[in-house]
Amino acid sequence: MTEPTIVTLADAEACSLAAAERIVEALEVAIDDRGEAHWVTTGGSAPGPIYVHLREPGLRDEVDWRRVHLWWTDERFVPPDHALSNAKIADELLLTHRAGDPGGGGLPIPIDNVHPIATSMAIAEGHGPDWAAARYVEALQADGPDTNDDGWPVFDLILLGLGPDGHILSVFPGSAVWDADALVVPVPAPTHVEPHVERVTMHPRVLAAARRVLVITTGGSKAASLGRAWTGDDVRELPVRAARLGTATWILDEAAAADLPRG
Ligand code: 6PG
Repeated sequence: MTEPTIVTLADAEACSLAAAERIVEALEVAIDDRGEAHWVTTGGSAPGPIYVHLREPGLRDEVDWRRVHLWWTDERFVPPDHALSNAKIADELLLTHRAGDPGGGGLPIPIDNVHPIATSMAIAEGHGPDWAAARYVEALQADGPDTNDDGWPVFDLILLGLGPDGHILSVFPGSAVWDADALVVPVPAPTHVEPHVERVTMHPRVLAAARRVLVITTGGSKAASLGRAWTGDDVRELPVRAARLGTATWILDEAAAADLPRG
């Protein structure tokens, strides 16, 4: 395995700002090189503070957001207005214009370039996560980035959080996702980690195809899993190991980095 770049900062706020800066940098490079950028964002507690920084004038003005496509690594199988929805976080903190917003409000990513996983339609029509997964594959085929020689989409940037159990995306330790052929797959509700809801997730192999991967992890609850990331190579046992890539930058606060090998 080629190793990621590790950036350890004092606290979560510094990590969120550093992540926002690297997202802007990656999107700028992609737009300069190919005229558009395909950014896959994530869920959980990590992205919200990053989105707030991206709305600030110093960063928002660096990117032609009209050329950005926004995707999700995974989604909880809930409606987009549900408190557990990953898309809801972006809708509220990244995209929505609010009266009195400094600097112009939400980011002007065209609505057709915002590609949430279709949980709303699935639930409304009585379908399950498998249906939503199949629709996301179709959306990627229709509007996604170019693919590599193996047929995997080459995203310009994939943002990841890390679960306390070492999961990334919605790929949990011992997950059967690794054996799936599909690019996007349904995931049964995990019982060992919150929230206990079904998921839809991209296959973790998209990470190795991506131009850049950005892992942001803060807090002592993640330290043990991060430390274990370097004690073996079995990605099925500890999925975060799949982000030990030369194309990856891991932004950690000191609490999360406490168990990393030194030197
Ligand atoms: C999700 C995310 C998931 C998340 C981790 C970390 O849907 O929950 O995609 O991979 O990044 O669970 O979440 P926290 O940062 O909230 O611990």
